[in-house]
Amino acid sequence: MKIFLDTANIGDIKKGVAWGIVDGVTTNPTLISREGFKDYKSALKEICDIVKGPVSAEVISTDSEGMIKEGKDLSKIDENIVIKIPATLEGLKAVKQLTNENIKTNVTLIFSPSQALLAAKAGATYVSPFVGRLDDISSGGMELIEKIVAIFDNYLIDTKVIVASIRHPLHFVESALIGAEVATIPFPVLGKLMKHPLTDIGIERFLNDWKKNQ
Ligand code: G3P
Repeated sequence: MKIFLDTANIGDIKKGVAWGIVDGVTTNPTLISREGFKDYKSALKEICDIVKGPVSAEVISTDSEGMIKEGKDLSKIDENIVIKIPATLEGLKAVKQLTNENIKTNVTLIFSPSQALLAAKAGATYVSPFVGRLDDISSGGMELIEKIVAIFDNYLIDTKVIVASIRHPLHFVESALIGAEVATIPFPVLGKLMKHPLTDIGIERFLNDWKKNQ
């Protein structure tokens, strides 16, 4: 399973990469604006220089022509840039065109299996279903992942599932059990994945026992 960091924070990306477990990064307009970059494109380039893997950059346009134009422009930043496109009918047109031009896409804001299947049919490299936001409205986020993975398996679809809007470690573990190819994880949740109180207690006990014989 691949782990992407869901952030645009350069410091957090450097820390995650140093842990040796980060395969890529996803950003969105909210995450980018949170960092207050003066130059969006040079920030994306910096991220690409740190992470040797896919880096998703989202378009702002809502019409296909605008999305295609922005997508082509963003794709020139680095060979690892993936263009994030919203799951709309205009988005499908943009995905088709960008795919024809060998530009990778990540269809985002997926909340239903039909959106995922249509995005895949248009040629999306990735789809990003948002589990946390579905859980927020009492609609099972992980059930959506199960359905999309099953549908893609039924038809041997190459499009990869990025589980997004992850809020806690169980989302990560359940994604792995279902067999989603990627989980994109906020930095605070990434740290929690390795944390266990018995590990901390065990280290403390080993060190105390060691000191007794020194
Ligand atoms: O990857 C999508 C993610 O950034 C959205 O997360 O927590 O705003 O639902 P959230």
